[in-house]
Amino acid sequence: MTRIKKIFIELRARALVVLVRFQLFGFGKKWRKINLCGGSVLIDGYCNVDLSPHADLHIDLERQLLPFSDSSIEIVICISSINYFSRTRGEEIIEEAYRVLKQGGIARFASQDLEAIAKKYINKDRGFFFQKLPDGRERFAGETMADKINSWFYGYETIGGKSGKYFYDYETLETLFRKTGFSKVEQKGYRESDIEHIDAIDNREDQMFFLEARK
Ligand SMILES: C[S@@+](CC[C@H](N)C(=O)[O-])C[C@H]1O[C@@H](n2cnc3c(N)ncnc32)[C@H](O)[C@@H]1O
Repeated sequence: MTRIKKIFIELRARALVVLVRFQLFGFGKKWRKINLCGGSVLIDGYCNVDLSPHADLHIDLERQLLPFSDSSIEIVICISSINYFSRTRGEEIIEEAYRVLKQGGIARFASQDLEAIAKKYINKDRGFFFQKLPDGRERFAGETMADKINSWFYGYETIGGKSGKYFYDYETLETLFRKTGFSKVEQKGYRESDIEHIDAIDNREDQMFFLEARK
C-alpha cells in the first residue's frame, strides 16, 4: 500500500470518529421543527429550546436569540410561554421565529387569554378559578380570584426565577405577528391546526387562545 493511500485511510477513519461523536452529542443535528420554551413537554422531532438544562438547546431567550440559519425551519411552536417575556422581547422572539422559518413555514403560539379569563373574573366563575389538581392542591396560584388573575400577570415563577411579564389577548399577539411580516395570521381552535400531531402540542384548552401564522 502506498504511503498516500495509508494517510487517506487514516484520515477517513478519524473523520468518521468525529462525525459519530458529533451526532452522539447532538451537534450537527439538522432540526426542522422548534419547540420554544418546551419545558417538560417533549415532542417527537422538535428541538426543545428552554432554560432547562435537559433541553436540546439550553438558552435564555431573554438574552440570546436562535442559533439557526435564516429560512431553515418548517415549524416553530411556543405554548404557554410568550407571556414570560416583556412585550418588546416577545416581538423580538416573533421576529426570530419569522427569520428562521422557511417561506410557507408555520408558527403556532398559544398563551393564557386575558379576555377569556377577565370574563370569567367578571362573571365570578369560581368553578374555574378554584379548580383542584388531582393531589388536592389549587390548580391556579393565589388565594383569591384577584390573586389568581395577578399570577397570570406576574407569577408562575419557573427555572432561573423567570415569571410572567405580559398577559396577552389574541388581538395583541396578532398585532405583533402582523408587524413582523407573517402573511397569514389566524386564531385557531384548540387542536385545530395545519400542523401534524397537534394533539401532542396543544394544552390548557380552558385558559388559552391559539394563534397560527404562515411566513
Ligand atoms: C409554563 S412553561 C410552558 C411549558 C410548555 N411549553 C407547555 O406547553 O406546558 C414555561 C416555560 O418557559 C421557559 N422559559 C421561561 N423563560 C425562559 C427564558 N428566558 N428562556 C428560555 N426558556 C424560558 C420555562 O423554563 C418553562 O419551561
